[in-house]
Amino acid sequence: MLVDQHHRPLRDLRISITDRCNFRCRYCMPAEVFGSDHVFLPREEILTFEEIEHLVGLTVPLGVRKVRLTGGEPLLRRGVQDLVEMLARVKGIEDLALTTNGVLLALHAADLRRAGLHRVTVSLDALDREIFARMNGVGAKVESVLTGIERAKDCGLGVKVNAVVQRGVNEGEIIPLVHWGREHGIPVRFIEFMDVGETNGWRMEEVVSAREIVEVIEKEFPLQKLSPAHRGEVAQRYGFCEGSGEVGVISSVTSPFCGGCNRLRLSAEGKLFTCLFARSGVDVRGLLRSGKEAALCSVLEGIWRGRSDRYSEERGSGEKPKVEMSYIGG
Ligand code: GTP
Ligand code: 5AD
Ligand code: SF4
Ligand code: SF4
Repeated sequence: MLVDQHHRPLRDLRISITDRCNFRCRYCMPAEVFGSDHVFLPREEILTFEEIEHLVGLTVPLGVRKVRLTGGEPLLRRGVQDLVEMLARVKGIEDLALTTNGVLLALHAADLRRAGLHRVTVSLDALDREIFARMNGVGAKVESVLTGIERAKDCGLGVKVNAVVQRGVNEGEIIPLVHWGREHGIPVRFIEFMDVGETNGWRMEEVVSAREIVEVIEKEFPLQKLSPAHRGEVAQRYGFCEGSGEVGVISSVTSPFCGGCNRLRLSAEGKLFTCLFARSGVDVRGLLRSGKEAALCSVLEGIWRGRSDRYSEERGSGEKPKVEMSYIGG
């Protein structure tokens, strides 16, 4: 089995299919940095669906079983359902998921399901209309995301919700989101605000720790810790002591989980990153386009074998500048 320098296998490939987004969440793409003059990747630089499919096929023998499509906002990429259909046919991929802000989900859910997508993870930071509109930076309506989630469930897609918690912004939304998740049978996972990228003005004071989040929830809903569903699971899951359902916390800042990190990330223009907090990636687009398959396979293997990243455990000591989340995906 292929393992990296810390004996971690490769399991999860996260593919950013566009660096564009129709939101401007402050913690990810602040509007003043990503303004109308911001230059995104030009179309010819972006991997084609065939190139992505080919690369995914080559990673299966190296260990990949899980593929997640991300962005930016992946539903902005034209024909995304065609890519899903191509990836759903790749032998060895057991789990095919997509992360979205949900605003275009109602439009795409049925096609995505038909194409073979298994599940979606929807970002939903607040139920309150004003807080939601403020956080997404473009005034998008929370109702459109809720409709998208409903449609996705109706189509038979698995649905999880991710909420980034920022102090002074949306910690008051924790309890409403837990209520909502219970009511709809959807696991809600609260994410600590992370120091990803260089533009979001991250400050430790704005991080609401996973422990604090759990304490807030426990005051209303007694919880019991659940054991991880698989090795390297990002979220710590909790079941409700009364009734069914679960919530999760993702504690990248206060309690890092690099030890089990089995994730490889591919940017839209074909660079491979071995950590969310990496400074640079390895460009494999040239090899992909030149058709030198044997060389490409040995580069892929070498990237994983040589990997020693554990940024969250070493926090602050990483090299700068780090890549942006909107570029590399969540
Ligand atoms: P499931 O397969 O549904 O369990 O999804 P997942 O655990 O891969 O979670 P998801 O893709 O929804 O990730 C949730 C969030 O956790 C991301 O948006 C990131 O904020 C954070 N996250 C995911 N992977 C990593 C990682 O490797 N490192 C760090 N620091 N954070 C991560
Ligand atoms: N800290 C934590 N989570 C983040 N996300 C984006 N930026 C950050 C950050 N700075 C989350 C989004 C989405 C996923 C793609 O990543 O909310 O759920
Ligand atoms: Fe927000 Fe996701 Fe878009 Fe970033 S990529 S601005 S987190 S919706
Ligand atoms: Fe993996 Fe890097 Fe996140 Fe650690 S910080 S869990 S190595 S992506």
